[in-house]
Amino acid sequence: MADLSSTFVGIRSPNPFWLASAPPTDKEVNVQRAFEAGWGGVVWKTVGEDPCVVNVHGPRYGAIYAADRRVIGFNNIELISDRPLRTNLDEMARVKRNWPDRAVVASVMVPCTEAAWKNILPMIEDTGCDGVELNFGCPHGMSERGMGSAVGQVPEYIQMVTEWCKQYSKLPIIVKLTPNITDVRQPARAAKKGGADAVSLINTINSIMGVDLEAMAMIPNTAGMGSHGGYCGPGAKPIALNMVAEIARDPLTAGLPISGIGGITTWRDAAEFIALGAGNVQVCTAAMVYGFKIVEDLCDGLSNFMDEQGYQSVDQMSGRAVKTVTDWKLLNLNHVEKAVIHQDACIQCGRCHVVCEDTSHQAISATKDGKRFFEVKEEECVGCNLCVAICPVPGALSLRALKPGEVDLRTGKTVSGEYANWTTHPNNPSAVV
Ligand SMILES: Cc1cc2nc3c(=O)[nH]c(=O)nc-3n(C[C@H](O)[C@H](O)[C@H](O)COP(=O)(O)O)c2cc1C
Repeated sequence: MADLSSTFVGIRSPNPFWLASAPPTDKEVNVQRAFEAGWGGVVWKTVGEDPCVVNVHGPRYGAIYAADRRVIGFNNIELISDRPLRTNLDEMARVKRNWPDRAVVASVMVPCTEAAWKNILPMIEDTGCDGVELNFGCPHGMSERGMGSAVGQVPEYIQMVTEWCKQYSKLPIIVKLTPNITDVRQPARAAKKGGADAVSLINTINSIMGVDLEAMAMIPNTAGMGSHGGYCGPGAKPIALNMVAEIARDPLTAGLPISGIGGITTWRDAAEFIALGAGNVQVCTAAMVYGFKIVEDLCDGLSNFMDEQGYQSVDQMSGRAVKTVTDWKLLNLNHVEKAVIHQDACIQCGRCHVVCEDTSHQAISATKDGKRFFEVKEEECVGCNLCVAICPVPGALSLRALKPGEVDLRTGKTVSGEYANWTTHPNNPSAVV
């Protein structure tokens, strides 16, 4: 069986699955139960200075659903921990003492002053916890007070606070990044410059979940008024994956350990983050939706996959797909694909025809010999993948790559098999010749 044990920035845990800083990790009783279920580590719910914050007493959470009511997106307007700092520190210390083989990382958010960080870091260290995560990510509530994403959106602040933390703490420092920024490489580079041991990402995305059209009021709302919140869950995964990959392939942050977060629900999601450069992963929404026991499936699934593929450790798998992420301008413009309808699996619903006809390239016919029959017109197909993406039957539609020597019926050109990209294309006014 593959070895799932993980060492992330020197922090050891029996598996790479940590619970992210959020309600699942906000008190001893939760964390105790999470560890009993098998989680490798936790990032404790973010602690701050006393007097502690106050949450609203109306709905803090909202969800969007797939047609089968599975939660595909989640949103919250919760602040950091609303319990006294001492309570959190005492519980953290007790949990770490009782579970020495599990990772316990403290998430911290205090005002952006050297004195505030200098004051809190020794208290954190006294708990015996394994590391500190700097919460520069929360997009609501705390940011209006000059914390969270208000810091995370200014690379100079990230560097400055990280330097303070490295100065006043011996613990590994993980900088948690906000996705509410145009180019995530900038804050990651700043974290590295400041001496961060790792970055973790993503925190939640600024969002409004919807509007109650009968009441003409934003949802969720408290006494009729709402505020933007943080979006996460499965719908956020592609955004998180891109940001993880951007940092993993940036030469200026190459080698900086990454803790991947955002929409991880299954072992496959986790494996994708690892493949794109994460050294471990953190989970929040999936635990809030399905409970702590999902960690069993996460561990079993990842372990089986690693056995099948011959990976002996998570580290061996980490970053394996990064080399396949590139800039658009470097994609091979000589590569040609065509859609194929597998008639044995096709249920004749006609959706591929409708969408191709209405919005793409009119490349799927709907009748043959006067009967309902769907067929690809290769002379029109550009291989865009829309039909494959919307087909309700897995395997009924796929794309096939033309081999060198085959003729593309749309352009009349023979596929050369040679690589050529936009940088040298004759239609590119700035082509390099
Ligand atoms: C209700 C809720 C509260 C959260 N509180 C915190 C927090 O206190 N500190 C923090 O760094 N992130 C917080 N997060 C963000 C999560 O740690 C995580 O980064 C985000 O939810 C993305 O992961 P997911 O898609 O697995 O939920 C919170 C998320 C949720 C849903």
